[in-house]
Amino acid sequence: MDKKETERTISVAIDGPSGSGKSTLSRAAAKELSLLYVDTGAIYRTTALHTLRRGVSPGESAAVAALLPEIDIALSYDAGGMQRMCLNGEDVTELIRTQEVSMAASAVSAYPAVRAFLLEMQRELARRHSVIMDGRDIGTVVLPGADVKIFLTAGSEVRARRRWLELQERGTPRDWEQLLRETRERDEKDANRAESPLRPAEDSVVLDTSELNFSQSLKRIVEIIRERTGL
Ligand code: DC
Repeated sequence: MDKKETERTISVAIDGPSGSGKSTLSRAAAKELSLLYVDTGAIYRTTALHTLRRGVSPGESAAVAALLPEIDIALSYDAGGMQRMCLNGEDVTELIRTQEVSMAASAVSAYPAVRAFLLEMQRELARRHSVIMDGRDIGTVVLPGADVKIFLTAGSEVRARRRWLELQERGTPRDWEQLLRETRERDEKDANRAESPLRPAEDSVVLDTSELNFSQSLKRIVEIIRERTGL
């Protein structure tokens, strides 16, 4: 899927809060349209994991920034098209999915130094490949010129419920009240930070999935992308 400099790549930005169904829907849409799926949350999570491992509090911006030069992040894809994350040569794909890493990622992603450090890596991926990239600021900051921008959302309770079910299925159940509280806390943090706050790009299509099931959401997303790109 590597593109030559002269070949035009297509970029689709999908932003939204956690639990909006972004990653599952983006991955499925990418598969259907033969685009590369890039989960940028995983990149922030990998950075957060390194911070935790080094015993640095995610709340200390200067100490987190000082760790950046020692972080080498690489993305690869397995045979099933699943994105794998490598941190300094170690596959950490599963290790970044804990609640502790989620909270730490939310904290470190608020720092300008962290965002600047990861920005070029994300843009380079979109220059080299036709992508569906999901995150929080893809349409507004990372790929402001994206061919298609979709802002996926759903009510906080619906999103917390999806996460609760997912954890239940994975055999790592969580207390409902606490999960709902953390979902709201994380929303608040992601939407109100000074640096790249979560908000829809002006030219994005806002899609609320509260009342839609997975296949209805996917159908709509694929339609939106096809309409705008001719794919
Ligand atoms: O999508 P996620 O839950 O894996 O993201 C983890 C954290 O990273 C989330 O709190 C917000 C942050 N993030 C971000 O600030 N910008 C992105 N493009 C992607 C994620």
